[in-house]
Amino acid sequence: MVTQVSTQTFNDKIVRQFTIMAIVWGVIGTAVGVLIASLLVWPEIGSGIPELSFGRLRPLHTNLVIFGFGGCALFATSYYAVQRTSQTRLYSDRSASVSFWLWQAVLVGAVISLPLGYTQGKEYGELEWPIDLMILGSWIAYAISFFGTISHRKIKHIYVANWFYGAFIIAFALLHIVESAMIPAGWFKSYSAYPGVQDAMVQWWYGHNAIGFYLTAGFLGMMYYYVPKQAERPVYSYSLSIVHFWALIFTYMWAGPHHLHYTALPDWTQSIGMVLSLILFAPSWGGMINGIMTLSGAWHKLRTDPILRFLIVALSFYGMSTFEGPMMAIKTVNALSHYTDWTVGHVHSGALGWVGFISIGSLYFLVPRLFGQKQMYSVKAIEVHFWMATVGVVLYISALWISGVMEGLMWRAMNADGTLAYTFVESVKAKFPYYFTRTLGGFLYMSGLILMLWNTYKTATNGKPVTIEIPIPGALAHNRTL
Ligand code: HEM
Ligand code: HEM
Repeated sequence: MVTQVSTQTFNDKIVRQFTIMAIVWGVIGTAVGVLIASLLVWPEIGSGIPELSFGRLRPLHTNLVIFGFGGCALFATSYYAVQRTSQTRLYSDRSASVSFWLWQAVLVGAVISLPLGYTQGKEYGELEWPIDLMILGSWIAYAISFFGTISHRKIKHIYVANWFYGAFIIAFALLHIVESAMIPAGWFKSYSAYPGVQDAMVQWWYGHNAIGFYLTAGFLGMMYYYVPKQAERPVYSYSLSIVHFWALIFTYMWAGPHHLHYTALPDWTQSIGMVLSLILFAPSWGGMINGIMTLSGAWHKLRTDPILRFLIVALSFYGMSTFEGPMMAIKTVNALSHYTDWTVGHVHSGALGWVGFISIGSLYFLVPRLFGQKQMYSVKAIEVHFWMATVGVVLYISALWISGVMEGLMWRAMNADGTLAYTFVESVKAKFPYYFTRTLGGFLYMSGLILMLWNTYKTATNGKPVTIEIPIPGALAHNRTL
Protein backbone atom coordinates (compact mmCIF):
# COMPACT_ATOMS: atom_id res chain seq x y z
CA MET A 1 0.00 0.00 0.00
CA VAL A 2 1.36 3.47 -0.86
CA THR A 3 1.01 6.09 1.87
CA GLN A 4 -0.18 9.40 0.54
CA VAL A 5 2.02 12.22 1.84
CA SER A 6 0.38 15.57 1.23
CA THR A 7 2.59 18.63 1.14
CA GLN A 8 2.41 22.26 2.09
CA THR A 9 4.83 25.08 1.29
CA PHE A 10 6.50 27.61 3.53
CA ASN A 11 5.69 31.29 3.08
CA ASP A 12 9.15 32.57 2.25
CA LYS A 13 7.95 35.53 0.21
CA ILE A 14 7.44 37.47 3.44
CA VAL A 15 10.92 36.45 4.65
CA ARG A 16 12.43 37.70 1.37
CA GLN A 17 10.60 41.02 1.65
CA PHE A 18 11.73 41.68 5.23
CA THR A 19 15.27 40.42 4.52
CA ILE A 20 15.79 42.86 1.66
CA MET A 21 14.25 45.76 3.56
CA ALA A 22 16.42 45.02 6.63
CA ILE A 23 19.52 45.55 4.52
CA VAL A 24 18.09 48.62 2.76
CA TRP A 25 17.09 50.28 6.07
CA GLY A 26 20.45 49.24 7.52
CA VAL A 27 22.21 51.24 4.82
CA ILE A 28 19.89 54.27 5.17
CA GLY A 29 19.90 54.20 8.99
CA THR A 30 23.68 53.99 9.28
CA ALA A 31 24.05 56.68 6.58
CA VAL A 32 21.99 59.00 8.78
CA GLY A 33 24.22 57.88 11.69
CA VAL A 34 27.31 58.87 9.72
CA LEU A 35 25.67 62.19 8.87
CA ILE A 36 24.88 63.06 12.50
CA ALA A 37 28.34 61.88 13.59
CA SER A 38 29.77 64.25 10.93
CA LEU A 39 27.55 67.08 12.20
CA LEU A 40 29.24 66.72 15.58
CA VAL A 41 32.64 67.08 13.89
CA TRP A 42 31.76 69.72 11.29
CA PRO A 43 28.55 71.44 12.53
CA GLU A 44 28.59 73.85 9.57
CA ILE A 45 27.68 71.12 7.03
CA GLY A 46 24.05 71.39 8.14
CA SER A 47 24.11 74.98 6.75
CA GLY A 48 21.51 76.00 9.35
CA ILE A 49 18.77 74.03 7.54
CA PRO A 50 16.36 72.82 10.27
CA GLU A 51 15.66 69.50 8.48
CA LEU A 52 19.40 68.75 8.54
CA SER A 53 19.93 69.68 12.17
CA PHE A 54 21.37 67.18 14.64
CA GLY A 55 18.31 67.40 16.92
CA ARG A 56 15.93 66.29 14.15
CA LEU A 57 18.16 63.70 12.48
CA ARG A 58 19.28 61.95 15.67
CA PRO A 59 15.83 60.39 16.34
CA LEU A 60 15.59 59.57 12.62
CA HIS A 61 18.84 57.60 12.97
CA THR A 62 17.70 55.72 16.07
CA ASN A 63 14.28 54.93 14.60
CA LEU A 64 15.68 53.68 11.29
CA VAL A 65 18.38 51.49 12.77
CA ILE A 66 16.23 50.07 15.57
CA PHE A 67 12.87 49.70 13.82
CA GLY A 68 14.08 49.59 10.21
CA PHE A 69 17.26 47.53 10.27
CA GLY A 70 16.79 45.62 13.55
CA GLY A 71 13.00 45.34 13.22
CA CYS A 72 12.96 43.99 9.66
CA ALA A 73 15.75 41.54 10.56
CA LEU A 74 13.67 40.30 13.50
CA PHE A 75 10.53 39.89 11.38
CA ALA A 76 12.47 38.08 8.63
CA THR A 77 14.39 35.70 10.87
CA SER A 78 11.43 34.91 13.13
CA TYR A 79 9.05 34.22 10.23
CA TYR A 80 11.66 31.87 8.73
CA ALA A 81 12.51 30.11 12.00
CA VAL A 82 8.98 29.71 13.32
CA GLN A 83 7.84 27.90 10.15
CA ARG A 84 10.82 25.51 10.20
CA THR A 85 10.66 24.75 13.90
CA SER A 86 6.88 24.30 13.78
CA GLN A 87 6.99 22.39 10.47
CA THR A 88 4.05 24.33 9.15
CA ARG A 89 3.32 27.29 6.90
CA LEU A 90 2.75 30.70 8.46
CA TYR A 91 -0.70 30.81 9.99
CA SER A 92 -1.94 33.68 7.83
CA ASP A 93 -0.29 35.04 4.70
CA ARG A 94 -2.56 38.04 4.81
CA SER A 95 -1.69 39.12 8.35
CA ALA A 96 2.02 38.59 7.60
CA SER A 97 1.65 40.83 4.59
CA VAL A 98 -0.20 43.46 6.66
CA SER A 99 2.67 43.36 9.18
CA PHE A 100 5.12 44.05 6.34
CA TRP A 101 3.34 46.92 4.59
CA LEU A 102 2.29 48.70 7.80
CA TRP A 103 5.83 48.42 9.15
CA GLN A 104 7.26 49.97 5.99
CA ALA A 105 4.62 52.71 6.19
CA VAL A 106 5.77 53.43 9.76
CA LEU A 107 9.35 53.79 8.58
CA VAL A 108 8.44 56.04 5.67
CA GLY A 109 6.35 58.04 8.17
CA ALA A 110 9.50 58.41 10.31
CA VAL A 111 11.56 59.56 7.32
CA ILE A 112 9.01 62.29 6.60
CA SER A 113 7.84 63.39 10.04
CA LEU A 114 11.03 63.43 12.11
CA PRO A 115 13.09 65.79 9.88
CA LEU A 116 10.03 68.07 9.76
CA GLY A 117 10.26 68.29 13.54
CA TYR A 118 7.15 66.30 14.54
CA THR A 119 8.03 64.40 17.70
CA GLN A 120 6.56 63.25 20.98
CA GLY A 121 9.93 64.01 22.55
CA LYS A 122 10.26 60.56 24.17
CA GLU A 123 13.43 58.68 23.32
CA TYR A 124 12.77 55.68 21.04
CA GLY A 125 9.09 56.69 21.18
CA GLU A 126 9.34 59.89 19.14
CA LEU A 127 6.86 59.02 16.41
CA GLU A 128 3.56 60.90 16.69
CA TRP A 129 0.36 59.11 17.66
CA PRO A 130 -1.02 58.32 14.15
CA ILE A 131 2.24 56.46 13.41
CA ASP A 132 2.08 54.83 16.86
CA LEU A 133 -1.28 53.38 15.82
CA MET A 134 0.27 51.96 12.65
CA ILE A 135 3.00 50.33 14.77
CA LEU A 136 0.27 48.75 16.88
CA GLY A 137 -1.58 47.52 13.79
CA SER A 138 1.56 45.96 12.36
CA TRP A 139 2.37 44.36 15.70
CA ILE A 140 -1.07 42.80 16.08
CA ALA A 141 -0.71 41.32 12.58
CA TYR A 142 2.77 40.03 13.54
CA ALA A 143 1.47 38.44 16.75
CA ILE A 144 -1.38 36.75 14.86
CA SER A 145 1.03 35.31 12.28
CA PHE A 146 3.64 34.21 14.81
CA PHE A 147 1.49 32.77 17.58
CA GLY A 148 -1.01 31.40 15.06
CA THR A 149 1.83 29.41 13.51
CA ILE A 150 2.99 28.16 16.91
CA SER A 151 -0.53 27.04 17.77
CA HIS A 152 -0.77 25.09 14.49
CA ARG A 153 2.66 23.51 14.86
CA LYS A 154 3.21 19.91 13.82
CA ILE A 155 5.85 19.39 16.50
CA LYS A 156 4.83 19.20 20.14
CA HIS A 157 7.87 20.95 21.46
CA ILE A 158 8.26 24.74 21.15
CA TYR A 159 11.89 25.35 20.29
CA VAL A 160 13.68 27.85 22.57
CA ALA A 161 14.24 30.43 19.80
CA ASN A 162 10.47 30.81 19.61
CA TRP A 163 10.29 31.44 23.36
CA PHE A 164 12.61 34.40 22.95
CA TYR A 165 10.87 35.69 19.82
CA GLY A 166 7.49 35.23 21.54
CA ALA A 167 8.57 37.10 24.69
CA PHE A 168 9.89 39.91 22.52
CA ILE A 169 6.57 40.20 20.66
CA ILE A 170 4.44 40.20 23.83
CA ALA A 171 6.71 42.53 25.80
CA PHE A 172 7.08 45.07 23.02
CA ALA A 173 3.28 45.22 22.61
CA LEU A 174 2.95 45.97 26.32
CA LEU A 175 5.75 48.54 26.28
CA HIS A 176 4.47 50.30 23.19
CA ILE A 177 0.92 50.61 24.51
CA VAL A 178 1.97 52.01 27.92
CA GLU A 179 4.63 54.35 26.48
CA SER A 180 2.32 55.65 23.76
CA ALA A 181 -0.42 56.79 26.14
CA MET A 182 -0.61 60.33 24.77
CA ILE A 183 -3.39 62.89 24.62
CA PRO A 184 -3.72 64.08 21.01
CA ALA A 185 -3.90 67.83 20.44
CA GLY A 186 -4.13 67.67 16.65
CA TRP A 187 -2.87 65.24 13.99
CA PHE A 188 0.81 65.85 14.72
CA LYS A 189 0.83 67.06 18.30
CA SER A 190 0.18 65.23 21.55
CA TYR A 191 0.97 65.39 25.26
CA SER A 192 2.03 62.60 27.58
CA ALA A 193 -0.69 61.14 29.76
CA TYR A 194 1.78 60.92 32.66
CA PRO A 195 2.90 63.86 34.76
CA GLY A 196 6.42 64.75 36.00
CA VAL A 197 8.63 62.05 37.41
CA GLN A 198 6.10 59.31 36.57
CA ASP A 199 6.57 60.26 32.94
CA ALA A 200 10.33 59.82 33.33
CA MET A 201 9.85 56.45 35.04
CA VAL A 202 7.48 55.20 32.33
CA GLN A 203 9.91 56.48 29.68
CA TRP A 204 12.82 54.49 31.08
CA TRP A 205 10.75 51.45 31.97
CA TYR A 206 9.93 51.53 28.25
CA GLY A 207 13.42 52.55 27.11
CA HIS A 208 15.25 49.93 29.11
CA ASN A 209 12.84 47.13 28.28
CA ALA A 210 12.93 48.10 24.64
CA ILE A 211 16.64 47.32 24.99
CA GLY A 212 15.94 44.17 27.04
CA PHE A 213 13.16 42.66 25.00
CA TYR A 214 13.52 44.24 21.59
CA LEU A 215 17.29 44.71 21.25
CA THR A 216 18.16 41.65 23.35
CA ALA A 217 15.47 38.94 23.68
CA GLY A 218 14.49 39.14 20.00
CA PHE A 219 18.11 38.86 18.89
CA LEU A 220 18.69 36.00 21.33
CA GLY A 221 15.90 34.21 19.46
CA MET A 222 18.01 34.78 16.36
CA MET A 223 21.09 33.48 18.14
CA TYR A 224 19.36 30.27 19.29
CA TYR A 225 18.24 29.40 15.77
CA TYR A 226 20.95 30.68 13.44
CA VAL A 227 24.12 29.88 15.44
CA PRO A 228 23.31 26.14 15.67
CA LYS A 229 22.22 26.17 12.02
CA GLN A 230 25.35 27.79 10.69
CA ALA A 231 27.64 25.79 12.99
CA GLU A 232 25.70 22.58 12.21
CA ARG A 233 25.78 21.71 15.89
CA PRO A 234 22.94 21.46 18.43
CA VAL A 235 22.69 24.17 21.09
CA TYR A 236 25.39 23.56 23.72
CA SER A 237 22.97 23.16 26.63
CA TYR A 238 19.25 23.14 26.11
CA SER A 239 18.63 23.24 29.89
CA LEU A 240 20.81 26.32 30.19
CA SER A 241 18.78 28.00 27.47
CA ILE A 242 15.60 27.53 29.52
CA VAL A 243 17.25 28.89 32.69
CA HIS A 244 18.64 31.73 30.56
CA PHE A 245 15.17 32.55 29.27
CA TRP A 246 13.37 32.72 32.61
CA ALA A 247 16.18 34.49 34.46
CA LEU A 248 16.50 37.14 31.75
CA ILE A 249 12.75 37.72 31.44
CA PHE A 250 12.34 38.08 35.18
CA THR A 251 15.29 40.41 35.74
CA TYR A 252 15.09 42.88 32.85
CA MET A 253 11.75 44.44 33.84
CA TRP A 254 13.18 45.92 37.07
CA ALA A 255 16.39 47.47 35.84
CA GLY A 256 15.00 50.61 34.10
CA PRO A 257 15.69 53.07 36.96
CA HIS A 258 19.45 52.79 36.29
CA HIS A 259 18.77 55.36 33.55
CA LEU A 260 17.54 57.80 36.20
CA HIS A 261 20.26 57.74 38.86
CA TYR A 262 20.55 60.95 40.87
CA THR A 263 17.19 62.25 39.65
CA ALA A 264 13.91 63.06 41.43
CA LEU A 265 13.03 59.35 41.30
CA PRO A 266 12.86 57.90 44.87
CA ASP A 267 16.27 56.66 45.96
CA TRP A 268 15.09 53.12 46.76
CA THR A 269 13.83 52.77 43.18
CA GLN A 270 17.26 53.72 41.86
CA SER A 271 18.87 51.17 44.20
CA ILE A 272 16.53 48.41 42.98
CA GLY A 273 17.46 49.34 39.42
CA MET A 274 21.16 49.11 40.30
CA VAL A 275 20.95 45.75 42.12
CA LEU A 276 18.78 44.10 39.48
CA SER A 277 21.18 45.34 36.79
CA LEU A 278 24.07 43.67 38.60
CA ILE A 279 22.07 40.44 38.82
CA LEU A 280 21.33 40.72 35.09
CA PHE A 281 24.97 40.04 34.39
CA ALA A 282 24.49 36.34 35.28
CA PRO A 283 21.73 35.35 32.83
CA SER A 284 23.32 37.48 30.11
CA TRP A 285 26.63 35.69 30.37
CA GLY A 286 24.88 32.32 30.75
CA GLY A 287 23.28 32.97 27.36
CA MET A 288 26.48 34.18 25.79
CA ILE A 289 28.40 31.12 26.97
CA ASN A 290 25.64 28.86 25.69
CA GLY A 291 25.88 30.50 22.27
CA ILE A 292 29.66 30.45 22.04
CA MET A 293 29.98 26.88 23.36
CA THR A 294 27.59 25.72 20.65
CA LEU A 295 30.72 25.82 18.55
CA SER A 296 32.33 23.04 20.64
CA GLY A 297 34.00 20.70 18.22
CA ALA A 298 33.50 23.12 15.34
CA TRP A 299 35.93 25.89 16.22
CA HIS A 300 37.92 25.22 13.07
CA LYS A 301 34.95 26.44 11.02
CA LEU A 302 35.70 29.98 12.19
CA ARG A 303 38.79 29.96 10.02
CA THR A 304 36.85 29.48 6.81
CA ASP A 305 33.29 30.63 7.46
CA PRO A 306 32.84 34.42 7.65
CA ILE A 307 29.11 34.09 8.43
CA LEU A 308 29.88 32.06 11.54
CA ARG A 309 32.48 34.67 12.44
CA PHE A 310 29.81 37.39 12.36
CA LEU A 311 27.60 35.30 14.64
CA ILE A 312 30.30 34.47 17.16
CA VAL A 313 31.83 37.96 17.29
CA ALA A 314 28.26 39.20 17.92
CA LEU A 315 28.21 37.06 21.04
CA SER A 316 31.53 38.48 22.24
CA PHE A 317 30.10 41.98 21.91
CA TYR A 318 26.97 40.83 23.71
CA GLY A 319 29.20 39.63 26.54
CA MET A 320 31.16 42.88 26.56
CA SER A 321 28.15 45.18 26.63
CA THR A 322 26.35 43.12 29.26
CA PHE A 323 29.44 43.30 31.46
CA GLU A 324 29.81 47.03 30.91
CA GLY A 325 26.08 47.76 31.46
CA PRO A 326 25.91 46.39 35.01
CA MET A 327 29.13 48.28 35.85
CA MET A 328 27.61 51.53 34.56
CA ALA A 329 24.49 50.84 36.61
CA ILE A 330 26.52 51.12 39.85
CA LYS A 331 25.65 54.58 41.14
CA THR A 332 29.21 55.72 41.74
CA VAL A 333 30.31 54.61 38.26
CA ASN A 334 27.20 56.20 36.73
CA ALA A 335 28.11 59.49 38.42
CA LEU A 336 31.07 59.53 36.03
CA SER A 337 29.56 57.93 32.93
CA HIS A 338 26.12 59.56 32.78
CA TYR A 339 25.70 62.35 30.18
CA THR A 340 29.07 61.42 28.65
CA ASP A 341 30.05 59.66 25.43
CA TRP A 342 30.78 56.56 27.47
CA THR A 343 27.01 55.85 27.34
CA VAL A 344 26.99 56.30 23.54
CA GLY A 345 30.03 53.96 23.30
CA HIS A 346 28.19 51.35 25.40
CA VAL A 347 25.09 51.73 23.23
CA HIS A 348 27.02 51.10 20.04
CA SER A 349 29.04 48.16 21.36
CA GLY A 350 25.60 46.59 21.93
CA ALA A 351 24.00 48.02 18.78
CA LEU A 352 26.77 47.65 16.20
CA GLY A 353 28.56 44.70 17.77
CA TRP A 354 25.72 42.57 19.10
CA VAL A 355 22.50 43.57 17.29
CA GLY A 356 24.27 44.45 14.03
CA PHE A 357 26.57 41.42 13.80
CA ILE A 358 23.98 38.81 14.79
CA SER A 359 21.54 40.29 12.24
CA ILE A 360 24.13 40.47 9.48
CA GLY A 361 25.22 36.86 10.11
CA SER A 362 21.64 35.58 10.15
CA LEU A 363 20.71 37.54 7.00
CA TYR A 364 23.74 36.11 5.17
CA PHE A 365 22.47 32.68 6.21
CA LEU A 366 19.04 33.45 4.76
CA VAL A 367 19.75 35.23 1.47
CA PRO A 368 21.14 32.27 -0.56
CA ARG A 369 18.47 29.92 0.79
CA LEU A 370 15.71 32.35 -0.11
CA PHE A 371 16.93 32.63 -3.69
CA GLY A 372 17.82 29.00 -4.33
CA GLN A 373 21.59 29.46 -4.23
CA LYS A 374 24.21 27.36 -2.46
CA GLN A 375 25.98 30.40 -1.09
CA MET A 376 26.20 34.18 -1.42
CA TYR A 377 27.34 35.49 -4.81
CA SER A 378 30.69 36.48 -3.32
CA VAL A 379 32.02 34.82 -0.16
CA LYS A 380 35.10 37.03 -0.46
CA ALA A 381 32.82 40.08 -0.12
CA ILE A 382 31.40 38.65 3.15
CA GLU A 383 34.97 38.27 4.37
CA VAL A 384 35.76 41.89 3.46
CA HIS A 385 32.48 43.01 5.07
CA PHE A 386 33.43 41.21 8.28
CA TRP A 387 36.69 43.09 8.57
CA MET A 388 35.18 46.45 7.63
CA ALA A 389 32.48 46.01 10.26
CA THR A 390 34.90 44.78 12.93
CA VAL A 391 37.39 47.60 12.42
CA GLY A 392 34.45 50.04 12.24
CA VAL A 393 33.00 48.98 15.61
CA VAL A 394 36.37 48.92 17.32
CA LEU A 395 37.20 52.44 16.10
CA TYR A 396 33.73 53.66 17.10
CA ILE A 397 33.59 52.29 20.61
CA SER A 398 37.20 52.78 21.66
CA ALA A 399 37.07 56.44 20.55
CA LEU A 400 33.94 57.04 22.59
CA TRP A 401 35.20 55.25 25.66
CA ILE A 402 38.25 57.49 25.74
CA SER A 403 36.19 60.57 24.94
CA GLY A 404 33.53 59.70 27.56
CA VAL A 405 35.89 58.99 30.44
CA MET A 406 37.95 62.04 29.52
CA GLU A 407 35.00 64.42 29.51
CA GLY A 408 33.59 62.91 32.74
CA LEU A 409 36.94 63.49 34.45
CA MET A 410 37.27 67.00 33.01
CA TRP A 411 33.82 67.98 34.33
CA ARG A 412 34.67 66.95 37.87
CA ALA A 413 38.30 68.18 37.97
CA MET A 414 38.77 70.92 40.56
CA ASN A 415 41.48 73.46 41.25
CA ALA A 416 42.95 73.74 44.75
CA ASP A 417 40.61 76.64 45.51
CA GLY A 418 37.51 74.58 44.67
CA THR A 419 36.77 76.14 41.27
CA LEU A 420 36.28 73.98 38.17
CA ALA A 421 39.52 73.18 36.34
CA TYR A 422 37.91 73.20 32.86
CA THR A 423 35.08 75.07 31.20
CA PHE A 424 32.44 73.01 29.40
CA VAL A 425 33.64 74.30 26.03
CA GLU A 426 37.14 73.00 26.75
CA SER A 427 35.70 69.51 27.25
CA VAL A 428 33.82 69.80 23.93
CA LYS A 429 36.97 70.89 22.10
CA ALA A 430 38.99 68.05 23.58
CA LYS A 431 36.57 65.52 22.05
CA PHE A 432 37.22 66.55 18.44
CA PRO A 433 39.74 63.79 17.50
CA TYR A 434 37.53 61.11 19.03
CA TYR A 435 34.45 62.34 17.20
CA PHE A 436 36.43 62.24 13.98
CA THR A 437 37.54 58.66 14.69
CA ARG A 438 33.96 57.63 15.48
CA THR A 439 32.79 59.07 12.16
CA LEU A 440 35.48 57.10 10.35
CA GLY A 441 34.48 53.89 12.16
CA GLY A 442 30.80 54.53 11.35
CA PHE A 443 31.66 55.17 7.70
CA LEU A 444 33.45 51.81 7.49
CA TYR A 445 30.52 50.04 9.12
CA MET A 446 28.04 51.66 6.72
CA SER A 447 30.24 50.83 3.70
CA GLY A 448 30.22 47.18 4.81
CA LEU A 449 26.42 47.22 4.68
CA ILE A 450 26.50 48.73 1.18
CA LEU A 451 28.75 45.85 0.13
CA MET A 452 26.23 43.45 1.65
CA LEU A 453 23.42 45.10 -0.32
CA TRP A 454 25.39 44.62 -3.55
CA ASN A 455 26.17 40.99 -2.68
CA THR A 456 22.49 40.37 -1.91
CA TYR A 457 21.41 41.96 -5.19
CA LYS A 458 23.85 39.77 -7.14
CA THR A 459 22.74 36.62 -5.27
CA ALA A 460 19.06 37.42 -5.83
CA THR A 461 19.43 38.19 -9.52
CA ASN A 462 21.59 35.11 -10.11
CA GLY A 463 19.04 32.85 -8.50
CA LYS A 464 15.28 32.85 -8.27
CA PRO A 465 12.78 32.74 -5.39
CA VAL A 466 12.31 29.17 -4.20
CA THR A 467 9.34 27.35 -2.74
CA ILE A 468 10.09 24.68 -0.18
CA GLU A 469 7.68 21.84 0.35
CA ILE A 470 6.95 20.46 3.80
CA PRO A 471 5.76 16.87 3.93
CA ILE A 472 2.79 16.29 6.24
CA PRO A 473 2.97 14.22 8.39
CA GLY A 474 6.64 14.15 9.25
CA ALA A 475 8.18 15.98 12.15
CA LEU A 476 11.77 16.97 11.44
CA ALA A 477 14.34 17.86 14.04
CA HIS A 478 14.66 21.57 14.55
CA ASN A 479 18.30 21.67 13.62
CA ARG A 480 17.97 19.97 10.27
CA THR A 481 18.87 22.25 7.41
CA LEU A 482 15.92 23.03 5.16
C1 HEM B 1 23.12 43.42 31.45
C2 HEM B 1 22.81 44.19 30.46
C3 HEM B 1 22.85 45.70 30.45
C4 HEM B 1 22.80 46.59 31.49
C5 HEM B 1 22.68 46.31 32.98
C6 HEM B 1 22.88 47.92 30.91
C7 HEM B 1 22.96 49.09 31.63
C8 HEM B 1 22.99 50.34 31.10
C9 HEM B 1 23.24 51.58 31.80
C10 HEM B 1 23.57 51.68 33.28
C11 HEM B 1 23.13 52.60 30.93
C12 HEM B 1 23.41 54.08 31.19
C13 HEM B 1 22.24 54.81 31.68
C14 HEM B 1 22.58 56.29 31.83
O1 HEM B 1 23.54 56.63 32.53
O2 HEM B 1 21.86 57.10 31.23
C15 HEM B 1 22.78 52.02 29.66
C16 HEM B 1 22.49 52.74 28.52
C17 HEM B 1 22.08 52.15 27.34
N1 HEM B 1 22.22 50.82 27.01
FE1 HEM B 1 22.70 49.34 28.24
N2 HEM B 1 22.95 47.79 29.56
C18 HEM B 1 22.93 46.46 29.23
C19 HEM B 1 23.01 45.92 27.95
C20 HEM B 1 22.76 46.62 26.81
C21 HEM B 1 22.69 46.06 25.47
C22 HEM B 1 22.97 44.60 25.11
C23 HEM B 1 22.35 47.09 24.64
C24 HEM B 1 22.13 47.11 23.14
C25 HEM B 1 21.78 46.20 22.43
C26 HEM B 1 22.19 48.28 25.45
C27 HEM B 1 21.76 49.51 24.98
C28 HEM B 1 21.74 50.65 25.73
C29 HEM B 1 21.21 51.90 25.25
C30 HEM B 1 20.56 52.15 23.87
C31 HEM B 1 21.44 52.85 26.26
C32 HEM B 1 21.23 54.35 26.17
C33 HEM B 1 19.89 54.75 26.57
C34 HEM B 1 19.76 56.25 26.41
O3 HEM B 1 20.22 57.00 27.27
O4 HEM B 1 19.19 56.65 25.38
N3 HEM B 1 22.47 47.97 26.74
N4 HEM B 1 22.73 50.65 29.77
C1 HEM C 1 27.41 53.66 10.89
C2 HEM C 1 27.03 53.36 12.05
C3 HEM C 1 26.51 54.33 13.08
C4 HEM C 1 26.90 55.61 13.37
C5 HEM C 1 27.98 56.43 12.72
C6 HEM C 1 26.09 56.06 14.47
C7 HEM C 1 26.16 57.32 15.04
C8 HEM C 1 25.38 57.77 16.08
C9 HEM C 1 25.45 59.09 16.66
C10 HEM C 1 26.38 60.20 16.23
C11 HEM C 1 24.55 59.15 17.67
C12 HEM C 1 24.24 60.34 18.57
C13 HEM C 1 25.10 60.30 19.79
C14 HEM C 1 24.95 61.52 20.66
O1 HEM C 1 23.84 62.00 20.86
O2 HEM C 1 25.99 62.01 21.15
C15 HEM C 1 23.90 57.84 17.75
C16 HEM C 1 22.95 57.49 18.67
C17 HEM C 1 22.37 56.25 18.75
N1 HEM C 1 22.55 55.19 17.87
FE1 HEM C 1 23.89 55.12 16.34
N2 HEM C 1 25.24 55.04 14.83
C18 HEM C 1 25.46 53.97 14.00
C19 HEM C 1 24.79 52.76 14.00
C20 HEM C 1 23.81 52.40 14.89
C21 HEM C 1 23.10 51.14 14.90
C22 HEM C 1 23.30 50.00 13.89
C23 HEM C 1 22.24 51.18 15.97
C24 HEM C 1 21.25 50.14 16.46
C25 HEM C 1 21.07 48.94 16.00
C26 HEM C 1 22.38 52.47 16.61
C27 HEM C 1 21.67 52.89 17.72
C28 HEM C 1 21.79 54.13 18.31
C29 HEM C 1 21.10 54.52 19.54
C30 HEM C 1 20.18 53.61 20.36
C31 HEM C 1 21.48 55.84 19.81
C32 HEM C 1 21.04 56.69 21.01
C33 HEM C 1 22.14 56.59 22.05
C34 HEM C 1 21.87 57.29 23.37
O3 HEM C 1 20.81 57.90 23.54
O4 HEM C 1 22.75 57.27 24.24
N3 HEM C 1 23.33 53.18 15.94
N4 HEM C 1 24.42 57.03 16.76
